[in-house]
Amino acid sequence: MKRIGMLTSGGDCQALNAAMRGIIKCMENSGEQLEIYGFLNGYQGLIYSKFRMLTGRDFSGILTMGGTILGTSRTPFKTIKDPDENGLNKVEAMKQNYYKLQLDCLVVLGGNGTHKTANLLREEGLNVITLPKTIDNDLWGTDMTFGFQSAVDIATACIDMIHTTASSHGRVFIVEVMGHKVGWLTLNAGMAGGADIILIPEIPYDLDNIIEALEHREKSGKHFTIIAAAEGAISKECAKMSKKEYKKYLEKRKYPSVSYEIAAQIGERTGHEVRVTVPGHTQRGGSPCPYDRVFASRLGAEAGQLILKGEYGFMVGYRNREIVKVPLEEVAGKLKEVSPDATIVKEAKALGISFGD
Ligand code: F6P
Repeated sequence: MKRIGMLTSGGDCQALNAAMRGIIKCMENSGEQLEIYGFLNGYQGLIYSKFRMLTGRDFSGILTMGGTILGTSRTPFKTIKDPDENGLNKVEAMKQNYYKLQLDCLVVLGGNGTHKTANLLREEGLNVITLPKTIDNDLWGTDMTFGFQSAVDIATACIDMIHTTASSHGRVFIVEVMGHKVGWLTLNAGMAGGADIILIPEIPYDLDNIIEALEHREKSGKHFTIIAAAEGAISKECAKMSKKEYKKYLEKRKYPSVSYEIAAQIGERTGHEVRVTVPGHTQRGGSPCPYDRVFASRLGAEAGQLILKGEYGFMVGYRNREIVKVPLEEVAGKLKEVSPDATIVKEAKALGISFGD
């Protein structure tokens, strides 16, 4: 008999349900008796003891379902050790609820922030297993996170659709892609969608270079340009600022995001008609793509096997085409960024894509 607590935390993404289904299916198929406690809305459920008892049947028919059957929320790691508004020690509360339910382990599906808290709970003595989810693909210790490929598909479809209207009107279009502080999603969707310019946080841009790339296209008879800009894209001037200065700059900025700022600057400098499209949270929505269904199911099956063996303290990740277990202490607190020297960046440049650098 295994008593398992499970939660999904942070921004949702596709294939969370597929991953949970994978864990439970694998364990049920082994013949192990299970008691499954599904904590609701991320760590909030564990802190305040809000859970649903689940059975294998709850995991049937959810392979293709987006979102998470458990609900999710953001519980920032920065304040996890601070008491809540009623003076409750949140870390102690999580531990007490874990012990009260006599759990064998806690399975946590999440991204960066979620992994910091998961690692803290491990340090506090809980048996923790995690799975890497996020459309940003920015989790250290794994080449891939589930949700990422589905989001690449959606952002690419958006760029594809913009292509035809941009071409008809001879306009410059900026498609703003999610990804928080990293450029994986923009880089991949940008390349897949045939973007002419790709702007990512790891490679600060110079407006002059963006304009040069636009004019170059214009001169070669291409009267429209597609720019895929990460929501975290940053200019060279801003990249030189301290964190505090940049924060102040953003507070004063009159545009809702970097794409609108670049659009206004290009318009002023060149007279081009520029439009911005922001697919936003659609990138996290809907059904997981086939890749993510398979990938999340594989991670789930491996996690299930670790739990059956009583091996805890790992994230189940993916490295060099193999599913691997990565110690949580290696994962927590690190960001996997796009290296400006990565071969994919060099290849994109070889294809003529400008990064504005
Ligand atoms: O981390 C996933 C993500 O979608 C990021 O790409 C984005 O910056 C952020 O979450 C948006 O967060 P929220 O859903 O809280 O607005």
